[in-house]
Amino acid sequence: MAGSVPPGAVPPADAVPPADAGAPAGVPPAGARRRGRVALTGAAGSLGSDVVPGLLELGYELVCIDQRAPAEPAGGTWVRASVNDRPALAEAMAGCDAVVHLAGIPQEDEWEPLMTANIDGTQAVLETARRLGVGRAVLASSIHAAGFVPVPPAGERVPDDVVVRPNTFYGVTKAAVEALGSLYHDRYGMDVVCLRIASRQARPTDTRMLSTWLSPADAVRLLDAALSPAATGFRTVWGVSANTRGYLSPDGGAAIGFRPQDDAEAWAPELLAARTAPTPGTTDWNASLIGGVFCSPEPPRFTPPTTDGSVR
Ligand SMILES: NC(=O)c1ccc[n+]([C@@H]2O[C@H](COP(=O)([O-])OP(=O)(O)OC[C@H]3O[C@@H](n4cnc5c(N)ncnc54)[C@H](O)[C@@H]3O)[C@@H](O)[C@H]2O)c1
Repeated sequence: MAGSVPPGAVPPADAVPPADAGAPAGVPPAGARRRGRVALTGAAGSLGSDVVPGLLELGYELVCIDQRAPAEPAGGTWVRASVNDRPALAEAMAGCDAVVHLAGIPQEDEWEPLMTANIDGTQAVLETARRLGVGRAVLASSIHAAGFVPVPPAGERVPDDVVVRPNTFYGVTKAAVEALGSLYHDRYGMDVVCLRIASRQARPTDTRMLSTWLSPADAVRLLDAALSPAATGFRTVWGVSANTRGYLSPDGGAAIGFRPQDDAEAWAPELLAARTAPTPGTTDWNASLIGGVFCSPEPPRFTPPTTDGSVR
């Protein structure tokens, strides 16, 4: 069996049960794979905290890398280091089958810190993976890499690989994350999945998220699919739940075995009732562009955590 595993893929178990009839070709049924040892950067962040318990439960052996400690004690092996500290990163990632790179600044900020954390940090992760022979990387991109793409007409979907149209300096860094992933695939044959994460929240909090919500449980399913042997080559995949009002294509996710289970629709009555009508003559950002209000001239900005880990 080992000979059929793509380079860097989390290897399957020795005995693989027959594929279930519902699984797309090449996607092993749940429970069929050995999950392997995975480096997870940014593990102490919001998305990291969402996925660490679920990934451990699925059987992954996690090396959690973050420059801050987790707010709550969490399982896995923890390494407190910046991804920009290349020797520390190499030490932490040694022996891993794959890396999931979530670390970075997750919203609009000044150009310099964004460049350091998001672009240089991603190059450090990919270059370290290459040197160590880690053949699979899952990179956190963002809907904001393509934020200026218009919301499509009802019934249409935005393809997973829609051309980048960044809405912020942050979005530009995520386009660069994707470009780096493409380079490491084309030049070195690494399998790279760029997740264009939409709106990760415990629950949807505005009407845009009725279309863009990614639930914590679906985030675990998404990462598990992106780490599966089916996720070969270079791909961009929307990170979004199965929302009734969704307009981001599910096709890229389905191709790697991502089957989201959650739907923001349960919150629709509450969120629609609380919605205030846009002022006439102004742009309704959330209704017109997939990046929503982050496309406005004054996008929401990143609030750095304080030294004790709390958020100001
Ligand atoms: N939350 C969302 O809705 C969303 C949407 C799209 C994309 N993303 C992307 O997903 C990733 C995680 O987002 P999040 O919401 O969990 O953000 P977050 O700020 O909660 O977590 C990011 C984590 O990365 C760590 N970090 C930052 N720079 C680092 C460095 N140089 N070295 C080591 N650790 C570093 C931080 O300490 C933090 O724990 C980010 O890359 C973000 O851009 C998130």
